[in-house]
Amino acid sequence: MTTQISAFERNTFDNQVIVITGAASGLGKAAAQLITSRGATVISLDLNKEGLAGATESYQLDVSDQAAVFKVIADIQSKHKRIDALINCAGYPGPTTEFVEDIKWPDYEKVMAVNLYGAIWLTQAVLPIMKSQKYGRIVQVASIAGKEGNPKMAPYNTSKSALIGFVKGVAKEVATMGITVNALAPAVIKTPINENTSEEMLKYMVAKIPAGRLGEVDEVAEIISFMASKACSFTTGFTFDISGGRATY
Ligand SMILES: NC(=O)c1ccc[n+]([C@@H]2O[C@H](COP(=O)([O-])OP(=O)(O)OC[C@H]3O[C@@H](n4cnc5c(N)ncnc54)[C@H](O)[C@@H]3O)[C@@H](O)[C@H]2O)c1
Repeated sequence: MTTQISAFERNTFDNQVIVITGAASGLGKAAAQLITSRGATVISLDLNKEGLAGATESYQLDVSDQAAVFKVIADIQSKHKRIDALINCAGYPGPTTEFVEDIKWPDYEKVMAVNLYGAIWLTQAVLPIMKSQKYGRIVQVASIAGKEGNPKMAPYNTSKSALIGFVKGVAKEVATMGITVNALAPAVIKTPINENTSEEMLKYMVAKIPAGRLGEVDEVAEIISFMASKACSFTTGFTFDISGGRATY
């Protein structure tokens, strides 16, 4: 199948419908802009309505609201008749300064609901569409925290490593159906998500990056674009790295 399409077609998104969550800011916004510039119809989803201003097409969505997730995907499908890729960038860190035994349970649960349950519900909603198309790309933005764990970020670590496990198994369910499902594990990237992260935690995270700096959103958007494209046809269930050398596995 891949030999039947040109190299140009593999890397462009003409006639494709790409759904991006967390698209009001940071990685999601950068991915939305890049993939739009490569020819896609991008549908931007986010809790933050103001941040979606300027998007070609957008919906306000709380990914931790199960019914809302299924409704918005059904609405997009009914309007556009297809969804070629889901890129799930919605996420938030939760507590970053507390020992695990001090974290209040509602705070723990909220991180799980946004970072993990939202990812699961989005996947459940788009897979039947992708199966009927015999084509699809799912990109779940996890984190280096899901591979290595950061101290005092127990809910975030739990949610992201569970997401990586989720991707591994689901990818195998659909591997013969033209659908690839992959995760991405960034180390610290310069985005608003780190605004409330403690100075101590940021220093700890950057000190672990051999490149000695934070990543830039453009660098991440580029790998997301590849993962969401036709070109990403023989890699599935994988967790791509973008960590400046922190992880070499
Ligand atoms: N920036 C980093 O250092 C870094 C590192 C590793 C992983 N990540 C992951 O990358 C993803 C994107 O983060 P970012 O750095 O662009 O942060 P960001 O804060 O700039 O963007 C996250 C977006 O998610 C949205 N969001 C939060 N909760 C939501 C909800 N319940 N429903 C819908 N949207 C919601 C926010 O409104 C925001 O627009 C997240 O999943 C994050 O965990 C980021």
